[in-house]
Amino acid sequence: MSYNNDFDTAIEGLCETFRFLSQTGCSGFDCSKESLNIMGSWGHKQTRLPETLEAIRMDLGECRRCRLSESRKNIVFGAGDPHARLVFVGEGPGYDEDQKGEPFIGAAGRLLTKIIEAIKYTRDQVYICNIIKCRPPGNRNPLPNEIKACLPFLKRQLAAIKPDVICALGTFAAQALLDTTTPISKLKGRFHDYNGIRVLPTYHPAYLLRNPGKKRDVWEDMKKLMKALAN
Ligand code: URA
Repeated sequence: MSYNNDFDTAIEGLCETFRFLSQTGCSGFDCSKESLNIMGSWGHKQTRLPETLEAIRMDLGECRRCRLSESRKNIVFGAGDPHARLVFVGEGPGYDEDQKGEPFIGAAGRLLTKIIEAIKYTRDQVYICNIIKCRPPGNRNPLPNEIKACLPFLKRQLAAIKPDVICALGTFAAQALLDTTTPISKLKGRFHDYNGIRVLPTYHPAYLLRNPGKKRDVWEDMKKLMKALAN
């Protein structure tokens, strides 16, 4: 249960009490319809506190929402600055990430670190996470039901961080965030919209390890990223 849920429950109870008091003719405090309407909106838009990553992590708990929980060693929630202007979203944890519970620390992760440093950031200054938080057995592709179970938590993380730009790494990140089946080759290299946040899809670092000739394309994308963050 997150703080916001507790808050909503408390406000609902408060409104119910005032409504009851107003119906029973109590006086001495403001039980007008107008006031009750104002209170009814508390906890929804205006006064809703922004979620924290800690609260989202607590809600996730020892997740058993899909079968990946049966084979994972660690949940890989995400790491970095909770107020980052730039978030990298990958596909899902591999062997090394599963062992340590940290995103992008294997071979693809080392390449991502170089990319981050090439654009004059450090890993601590950005936030790094994945579409799914548990390693698929044998590093197979995530299944639609696994993405569906995990995506709400990533969406809450992104809403909490409120980055200026999201860099979607590879097919699964780009397609899940943009809710499309368009191939990465068509999505990459230009900005898209995700809930008012600019999303730049590019190739996944693991793909670059297999296709080093594509590094030049990613560098072109990273220049666009730097430009977008310069303002
Ligand atoms: N590949 C990913 O997509 N994410 C990781 O965390 C590691 C490798």
